[in-house]
Amino acid sequence: MPMCGIVGYVGPRDVSTVVLAGLSRLEYRGYDSAGMAVSGENGIERSREVGKVADLVRMLEANPLKGKQGIGHTRWATHGGVTVENAHPHCNSSSSVVLVHNGIIENYTELRESLLSEGVTFSSQTDTEVAAQLLGKIYSGDPKQALIELYRRITGAFALAVMFADDDDHIYCIRKGSPLIVALGDGETLCASDVPAVLEYTRRIVYMGEGEMACLSREGASFWDSEGNPLDKDVVEVDWDLSMVEKGGYPHFMLKEINEQGAVMRQTLTGRTEGEQVDLSKELSWTADWARSIKRVHLVACGTSFYAASVAERVIGLFTDLDVRVDIASEYRYRSIPIGEDTLAVFVSQSGETLDTLAAERFAKEKGARCLAITNNGLSSIAREVDDVLLLKAGPEIGVAATKTFTGQMAVLYLMALYLAKLRGSLKETDEQRLLREMTSMPYKIEALLENSDTVKLMAEKYSLARDFLFLGRGFSFPIALEGALKLKEISYIHAEAYAAGEMKHGPIALLDRAVPVVVVMPDDELWEKTLSNVQETKARKSPVIAITTVGRESYLKDVEDLLSVPATEPELTPFLTVIPLQMFAYYVALARGTEIDQPRNLAKSVTVE
Ligand code: AGP
Repeated sequence: MPMCGIVGYVGPRDVSTVVLAGLSRLEYRGYDSAGMAVSGENGIERSREVGKVADLVRMLEANPLKGKQGIGHTRWATHGGVTVENAHPHCNSSSSVVLVHNGIIENYTELRESLLSEGVTFSSQTDTEVAAQLLGKIYSGDPKQALIELYRRITGAFALAVMFADDDDHIYCIRKGSPLIVALGDGETLCASDVPAVLEYTRRIVYMGEGEMACLSREGASFWDSEGNPLDKDVVEVDWDLSMVEKGGYPHFMLKEINEQGAVMRQTLTGRTEGEQVDLSKELSWTADWARSIKRVHLVACGTSFYAASVAERVIGLFTDLDVRVDIASEYRYRSIPIGEDTLAVFVSQSGETLDTLAAERFAKEKGARCLAITNNGLSSIAREVDDVLLLKAGPEIGVAATKTFTGQMAVLYLMALYLAKLRGSLKETDEQRLLREMTSMPYKIEALLENSDTVKLMAEKYSLARDFLFLGRGFSFPIALEGALKLKEISYIHAEAYAAGEMKHGPIALLDRAVPVVVVMPDDELWEKTLSNVQETKARKSPVIAITTVGRESYLKDVEDLLSVPATEPELTPFLTVIPLQMFAYYVALARGTEIDQPRNLAKSVTVE
């Protein structure tokens, strides 16, 4: 289950209250059913419901679950439809074992076959129940040994929280592929898929690593590896607080996060510039000799992170003579291209858990590349596997549609590109000063831009019934057009495509008519005139044009339907500004259409399957 939510609690509080509150804080992950189980003097008791956590709460109000500990789950359906029978938690037939699962058990078919041949009857179509039935078969009184054997028998990606009916003082966890944390409170211990679920009780977090297992009790937790060797795990005091996870007065997390982008950019720059000079030496182990020795840079990511990487590809190309390539993570590892010790491979992933990107990183690492992760979670899987990490410092991003982390990624990537060029001796001091001065003032320009949300809202409502959109851009604006199209698709469910503006005449122009609005990203840069001709082409086909341009250029665009201006800035830095109206446009179109903005259908905040 790519993006299910797991919560476990053992402690003195009312178990249902803690588990349900935790599941509510994981709702942003997207799901379609929810359930929980407790264990206590009545053994294991379970409640499951199709729909939202609120539906499960109503069910439990009528039939409360009382126990000494409990596990809960929000399910994002993959194996098996959205039904109560397929909702977690899953038990084995004798209910001696109950568990919840995030991930995919790849060998579940053969396991299911062999269990059926042993007379096991299944009540669901899920891979998760196979794990529960198998564990029920394996368990003979020693939970630790049973988990080690289960880990040996199942393949795939799985985070599991498990309870045994004959032990209502301990919850057990396994982590492989899908993230799982353990939170240490005072006389209470929790496990969860992500930090927001536990922040109310403690900020002392243990991030479980690959192949690690845990036993949770009121006194704390113990950890061991897949061979059973005890592990001494670091406890991290996360610097998030609950308010960061709350909406702060905004109707949606996404709108809050759009409005945090000025602050995020300031945080991202902090400690990384000395005056008007970039300095990443405190975070990167790069040397000038190494920087001069490499031959190529690969930038690898998915979705919005891929668009941030695409902007960086252009920046690196401007300031170094390196062979630079940006690639979609799920394609990268099937390339047969030179990758070796002379390659810097940069992996951009705000969650640090995207399996496509993780797989690409492992591929590049195996080939000897020097790997850098640009991520919002310094304790994520990818952060723990690479040679160097640059953090976004954007704070938790709850909305599934990435906004502030996109801006954070671009800011880090610009600094990285300039720093690499500087180490290679190819960055002119005048460029460094010019760009850093402008990046320092960028947060103010972003915040000024966020002021005109009413204009964007009115325009968005005008176009909210369109069925198809085109987004166009050239140069630095092409990745921004791609990002704008993705934002609109993701949260309003309107079909939107982005093209390099110069490509229109090679086919897409056939799509144009008055029912197809065209958003043209055309800030004041060397390609502006060329893009202006695309506007004329588009107008000639009766498509309404929405132009995003720089203040002062409006008079040249009198015949477009709508126009949004952004402040003037250095031509290489326009993406920081042109993306803002596109994020807001997508938000207000979705609002007008009444779609689910923070948890869009079918989507997950971090896709931990391939
Ligand atoms: C962006 O709005 C989407 N949520 C999605 O494309 C996302 O950017 C992609 O899944 C990559 O996520 P990551 O940055 O956590 O790796």
